[in-house]
Amino acid sequence: MATQEETFKKIVAHCKEYGFVFPSSEIYDGLGAVYDYGQNGVELKNNIKRYWWDAMTLLHENIVGIDAAIFMHPTTWKASGHVDAFNDPLIDNRDSKKRYRADVLIEDQIAKYDEKIAKELEKARKRFGESFDEELYKQTNERVREHIEKREALHARYAKAMNDNDLAELKQIILDEEIVCPISGTRNWTDVRQFNLMFQTEMGSTADGAMKIYLRPETAQGIFVNFLNVQKTGRMKVPFGIAQIGKAFRNEIVARQFIFRMREFEQMEMQFFVRPGEELKWFEHWKQFRLRWHKALGLGDEKYRFHDHEKLAHYANAATDIEFLMPFGFKEVEGIHSRTNFDLSQHAKFSGKKIEYFDPELNQSYTPYVIETSIGVDRMFLSVMCSSYEEQQLEGGDTRVVLHLPPVLAPVKACIMPLVKKDGLPEKAREIMNELKFDFKVAYDEKDSIGKRYRRQDAVGTPFCITVDHDTEKDGCVTVRYRDTMEQDRVKIEDLHDIIRKATDPKELYKKIVSE
Ligand code: GAP
Repeated sequence: MATQEETFKKIVAHCKEYGFVFPSSEIYDGLGAVYDYGQNGVELKNNIKRYWWDAMTLLHENIVGIDAAIFMHPTTWKASGHVDAFNDPLIDNRDSKKRYRADVLIEDQIAKYDEKIAKELEKARKRFGESFDEELYKQTNERVREHIEKREALHARYAKAMNDNDLAELKQIILDEEIVCPISGTRNWTDVRQFNLMFQTEMGSTADGAMKIYLRPETAQGIFVNFLNVQKTGRMKVPFGIAQIGKAFRNEIVARQFIFRMREFEQMEMQFFVRPGEELKWFEHWKQFRLRWHKALGLGDEKYRFHDHEKLAHYANAATDIEFLMPFGFKEVEGIHSRTNFDLSQHAKFSGKKIEYFDPELNQSYTPYVIETSIGVDRMFLSVMCSSYEEQQLEGGDTRVVLHLPPVLAPVKACIMPLVKKDGLPEKAREIMNELKFDFKVAYDEKDSIGKRYRRQDAVGTPFCITVDHDTEKDGCVTVRYRDTMEQDRVKIEDLHDIIRKATDPKELYKKIVSE
């Protein structure tokens, strides 16, 4: 059995081999934590975005979209708090000259304790078998108790240091825990410093006339600064939402786990503006709606969980993450935040403009409160890939790699194949493809044996393979082979459209989301 780490490596390799994700500018040895999406990746990504966009803007008459620029007036980021507080605590090792996030070094140390505890428990489980009582063992086994106590003490000390923004204490924890640099193996650490994650550039041509601007670290601010524009021109009534999909940039110091943490990534964000006092009701509503959106894809209900934040940002009065079970554990894919009226009030203060809404029903003006749903396209992509990838052992000793992608998201919906490259079969296959291509992304393949062609389509997650054979001309039928079961059916050519539509139409999922 492959470990989770080995499986993850295989998924990363698969993404490259089959045109889903490539390292950026790879011929120059790539660029850290920046990736390009290939011919299949871009289709899958576009399908994810379409699924999100339509679930927001089609299913809700009170949600509209925008597409704001990446560059924004620099005061935007002063007002939002990003200039002053969008920081990570950094530490350098003087011997290796490598830079690390102090919080990540400590979190890795906590994870080491967790691993030790898990190993001890695993050993005991094997030893005691059926009768093993984990809770009792944790309380009574001295070694396990010691690991747990150390872990808890470290966690409490770390949480306090982060909460108090105490950089000296973070360094002291690293020293006390005897954490070494993985490269040099030494404990020759600098002090911990704050490092702002925003990328900067200059706009304008002359050195003195140029203005320092930032690449946006989130798309949300493009929505807030357009609140009045959209509300007035769209005659929107509170409650209403503004949705946006777009690139965001963060100079992440620790870039790991493939496309999980990138320096250039894409977000799908929606800000929902509500009456003050009604925000917690809407927060609950959006939590449930978003979870239903995820679950409707069928990746496995047990792979999702909420992680409610105990420590809230000063402007938030509720926050949760939707976490997904990746090969490296449950990880945040989406954040849902009740952001009060912080952002609109800050932009009103910094711009000097009144940003309020006149509520005709209450006959009063107020600054609306905001519920935000924010999901990373790339993390969503990764969760879909990780849960779809399977290496199957087949009867007869054969193996296949199959991507069980939700058909709605699959890059290619069907591949049309002539059984042989002669006797008019290619022409018939192309005729069928030319009919289907108006509605679906379809492919054509006539090279190699039919078995090899099936494998190629399995590896990119194509739900249907359609084979044209010598009987097709006589009976007007083709063989449809299903990706997941590998079963085959003989079906009429005129039924193909319906079969593919039924399986790949997002409408079926939308109905599920709204009916629950
Ligand atoms: N406007 C709120 C906001 O940006 P966030 O929790 O910082 O909140 C929201 O980011 C989502 O964006 C995350 O849940 C994650 O899916 C995605 N995301 C954040 N940083 C990322 C990165 N470096 N690489 C890939 N995705 C990222």
